[in-house]
Amino acid sequence: MPTHWLVLVTNVIYVNLYQYFRMNVEYILKNAAGLDGEGPHWDDVTGTLLYVDINGYAIHRYDAETGSDDKLELDGPVGFAVPARKGGLIASVGRSLVHVDWDTKKVTKLHEVEQGLQTRFNDGKCDPKGRVWAGTMGPEEPDIESMPKIGNLYCLDLDGSLHTLVRNIGISNGLAWNEDEKTMYYVDSTPRQIYRYSYDAATRQISNKKIIVDNRGDSLAEKGVPDGMTIDTEGKLWVACYLAGKVVQYDPETGKELQTVYIPSSKRITSCCFGGKNLDELYVTCSAYDVPKDELQKYPLSGSICRVSGLGVKGYKANIYEGRIMI
Ligand code: BGC
Ligand code: CA
Repeated sequence: MPTHWLVLVTNVIYVNLYQYFRMNVEYILKNAAGLDGEGPHWDDVTGTLLYVDINGYAIHRYDAETGSDDKLELDGPVGFAVPARKGGLIASVGRSLVHVDWDTKKVTKLHEVEQGLQTRFNDGKCDPKGRVWAGTMGPEEPDIESMPKIGNLYCLDLDGSLHTLVRNIGISNGLAWNEDEKTMYYVDSTPRQIYRYSYDAATRQISNKKIIVDNRGDSLAEKGVPDGMTIDTEGKLWVACYLAGKVVQYDPETGKELQTVYIPSSKRITSCCFGGKNLDELYVTCSAYDVPKDELQKYPLSGSICRVSGLGVKGYKANIYEGRIMI
């Protein structure tokens, strides 16, 4: 092998090993019993992590400084919660999008979708212009891969109106936008695929759907099901792999796996976001919902929240809802 190749290979091995040993996975909230952790959002103004406990019907706020974890209970499954510029939070409860005032505990319904269907909102996030995008899912029967595709992806626009952007979704999950505001990434967990769309920030229209990761037919234990995701400042995706106990960094251009973070004591990894003062820590949510006894014995920290440091990458400040709240 020519010398320059040898130097290059040695460097790559060195960098990867260095990275591996620097990386640290810390369980910051251990087994908030029965927790169905999801939808992490780093609030850079307060230095807190907002996340939801879907089937625990609650929104949580973890203070990274003090370690306290406050909770607000709602009256149905909560898919996500994001701050609103005009105050309070936009969240989902069942099939409704709601405004939540954390202090007074007042919950106001903004929109209800899919009346009469057995669906619920799942993951949601704000786009670079401050609109909320959130999608729904039906019952996971007979299982994640074969359940009916009766979900939709919606967008709550800045004037408070709601629009359907994608139909026939199995489990609407992770969302992310590129820094140039021209690309949107989206996960449907049922076909185990990640998509790239051309995104028009001015009109919120999406087009040119392309599959960039396709895990259909692959081993569930090894690849899992793509769930929540985030994007780093290099434009690479970090995707929670539900049922596979890991978060994978993907190159969205090639669909190749670049790095893997193993979460040792939980298999059901649901989502992740960058947070911390320098936005260089990855907060990871896990689920203990409906976990069989033998799985819980093997993965005793299933319903926990983790923080991964030493990854050598950073994320962006999370977008919040910039629009009107019609209350
Ligand atoms: C949903 C779960 C589902 C999982 C599959 C989550 O976002 O809340 O109900 O099992 O996605 O990846
Ligand atoms: Ca999710």
